[in-house]
Amino acid sequence: PSNTGRVLSIQSHTVQGYVGNKSAVFPLQLLGYDVDPINSVQFSNHTGYPTFKGQVLNGQELLDLIEGLEANNLLYYTHLLTGYIGSDSFLNSVLEVVDKLRSINPNLTYVCDPVMGDEGKLYVPEDLVSVYREKVVPVASMLTPNQFEAELLTKLRIGSETDGLKACNILHAAGPSKVVITSINIEGNLLLIGSHLKDKKQPPEQFKIAIPKIPAYFTGTGDLMTALLLGWSNKFPDNLDKAAELAVSSLQALLQRTLNDYTSAGFDSKSSSLEIRLIQSQDDIREPKLTFKAHKY
Ligand code: ATP
Ligand code: PLP
Ligand code: MG
Ligand code: NA
Ligand code: MG
Repeated sequence: PSNTGRVLSIQSHTVQGYVGNKSAVFPLQLLGYDVDPINSVQFSNHTGYPTFKGQVLNGQELLDLIEGLEANNLLYYTHLLTGYIGSDSFLNSVLEVVDKLRSINPNLTYVCDPVMGDEGKLYVPEDLVSVYREKVVPVASMLTPNQFEAELLTKLRIGSETDGLKACNILHAAGPSKVVITSINIEGNLLLIGSHLKDKKQPPEQFKIAIPKIPAYFTGTGDLMTALLLGWSNKFPDNLDKAAELAVSSLQALLQRTLNDYTSAGFDSKSSSLEIRLIQSQDDIREPKLTFKAHKY
């Protein structure tokens, strides 16, 4: 069927817990996609814990896997999904993968979460910022930065809703026809801003979704959000607002469940970051109840 697809997902793997591929693969499968994960790292647990151990895949090792697939004619994908990338050489190999996949399927949709940092803090080497800005953004079909990442990519300081919309326009001009700024902090609450440039001669269709901030810190939510946006925006290609409503509704139901489960187990949910209840939320992923509404500008 045309509303699903085959996704190559290049992201982190953690043995325990849900970030990167561990939080993206299962929901995409639930939405009906074939997902082929390449694990850019294999860590014991996410890096927010006191320690972690594991292996990092380098750029050449990524290209080796691609070569193996290509040698067997297995490189036809409808979507490429990338998240956290830790080095310049790996990011440059990802750019080669984009070219290679597009040479096989010119209609490949590249969904890029340009993970660089959050809340004013960079957590990738600084030289990646210009590679994202100059080489990755121009080839992305859909981009899902947070507020800080949108600022780095546009060199625009985002202090308001209007700034967020402006940032989307700048990003459209650089490449992607779909942009979702997954969270802007406005007076303690979260605002998602979406923008779809359908026709280069017309202004983009833009919308926002207000999300009350839950007083807890979760990991893996950015990766899950981008996966859900890929899943739903492909099913509703002309309604990015609807796709975002579905993605936000699923994610918020999952976060509420996560918070409730920790609280009823007697955990202080503010003391450390919470592992999301992904498996337990499969009904909310498959058939989300629309509890969040997008407002068009
Ligand atoms: P990136 O993956 O680029 O870092 P991000 O910073 O937006 O993106 P998160 O901060 O994990 O990623 O947020 C992703 C989504 O998760 C947000 O759009 C929001 O819907 C939801 N979310 C995360 N934390 C909370 C929270 N405490 N309360 C409510 N929603 C949250
Ligand atoms: N990937 C790895 C290896 C991580 O350690 C983390 C967070 O600690 C993430 C990804 C972050 O995921 P997110 O931005 O979705 O919370
Ligand atoms: Mg964030
Ligand atoms: Na994001
Ligand atoms: Mg993140």
